[in-house]
Amino acid sequence: KGKILPEATGFAVNLGKDCDNLALHFNPRFDCQGDVCTIVCNSMEDGAWGTEERESAFPFQQGEKTQVCISFDATELKVKLAEEQEITFPNRLGLEAIEYLSVEGDLKLRVIKFG
Ligand code: GAL
Repeated sequence: KGKILPEATGFAVNLGKDCDNLALHFNPRFDCQGDVCTIVCNSMEDGAWGTEERESAFPFQQGEKTQVCISFDATELKVKLAEEQEITFPNRLGLEAIEYLSVEGDLKLRVIKFG
């Protein structure tokens, strides 16, 4: 859970094994790198980005609180968003455990829960 900064251009949640091996880079972009109100998802293996996937759902607003809930198994990751929207992304690295989590960009983090 967190609060998106009023002038946010984007933020990202990264999950994986370490900073060079990400099962999921979940990157809502308000206005960033040519994308407007688009979620970009990708993986990273040994420091190299995979193929990006772009989502049409974008339930985020600058200056507002937000919440995402991420779960995974050996085949895919699921991200639950507001308004019962859910996106899935393949577990390309086949990770069975998440040992690394980072949040970057224009999100003020308030709560992290593991369950
Ligand atoms: C790049 C961007 C990275 C990451 C990546 C995802 O263009 O610089 O921060 O978002 O796309 O594919």
